[in-house]
Amino acid sequence: MADSRTMRIGILTAGGDCPGLNAAIRSVGKTAILQYGMEVYGISSGFLGLIDKEYTILTEKDLSGILTLGGTILGTSREKPFKSDKYNAYIGGKPAIIKENYEELGLDCLVCIGGNGTMKTAYKLFQEGLNVIGVPKTIDNDVWGTDVSFGFDSALSIATEAIDRIHTTANSHKRIMVIEVMGHHAGWLALYAGLSGGGDIILIPEVPYREDVISEYLKKRAELGKPYSIVVVAEGIATPLAADGETHVSAARYIAERIQELSGFETRETILGYIQRGGSPSAMDRIIATRLGSYAAELAAMQSYGSMVAIKNDEVTTVPLKDVAGRLKTVTPDHPLIKRARSIGTCFGDRI
Ligand code: F6P
Repeated sequence: MADSRTMRIGILTAGGDCPGLNAAIRSVGKTAILQYGMEVYGISSGFLGLIDKEYTILTEKDLSGILTLGGTILGTSREKPFKSDKYNAYIGGKPAIIKENYEELGLDCLVCIGGNGTMKTAYKLFQEGLNVIGVPKTIDNDVWGTDVSFGFDSALSIATEAIDRIHTTANSHKRIMVIEVMGHHAGWLALYAGLSGGGDIILIPEVPYREDVISEYLKKRAELGKPYSIVVVAEGIATPLAADGETHVSAARYIAERIQELSGFETRETILGYIQRGGSPSAMDRIIATRLGSYAAELAAMQSYGSMVAIKNDEVTTVPLKDVAGRLKTVTPDHPLIKRARSIGTCFGDRI
């Protein structure tokens, strides 16, 4: 076992990027170097860098000035080394290549910063014998086992500002505005942005909606002298197949078309897209990333592996990777925020 003074720690960022990744890299790296005298290897492009053996050695100086930077200085990819493909022809496939490179690089530990998919891969690598520690990031807020992950707060601010701006144009034109935010399986971003942006209707994957309910609700608002409305939609809500048997281009487009057809109100849609993942992290995300990253380096120094760092009840803690892998934190239909939103008249498309 390596002495903590001479430990070599690898850091990678995998999956979709988000604000706060550089803050986390900085925090893991600075703690590792300044507190424990470790060597820090920055692995390029997620797990791909471990397959292709692409990395850079990061000094403390390299980690300065990146706290506020969006994206990731290491690059990222959606590489899933345990997914079967042509590499299976090699004995052991990509996991074996990763193991070999991990050993050749002399890594004592690998810090994997990522979302659900990354935690699953991290756990599998841990089972293969690598000393792995997970750090959760996601704009979707759907990593199981932690109350918060960095990325979400920044995305929420971006989405809220966008909804605020759409509000004023909705009002001017007396239109229904449908805004699509990210979230394939979890509606956290739509729920929070819908609440903070004053959405009249919020549609999330966890609460099945009815088109007639949506239309009736909008008509009622019009009768009450409210001629414009804001509909916040998570990209992953269920939509029926189009007439040609294909899936609809986007949830927002589908919902906007149906609203116009059923209610006759002029309706427009906006898809926020990647703008939600770009740019500088919010103050809160910088703090979350710093807390989680620094604790991950501390765990490495203690040679405590196989877990993901997490925040629970505002305390930094750990959760075994085996518990996180393959699980998703979704919105419960009776979530307190949904209850509060309903009590101020917000519609979730299931009932008026
Ligand atoms: O990071 C998660 C996420 O933002 C999802 O909400 C979104 O659907 C997905 O990434 C899309 O990312 P990409 O196009 O990079 O796969």
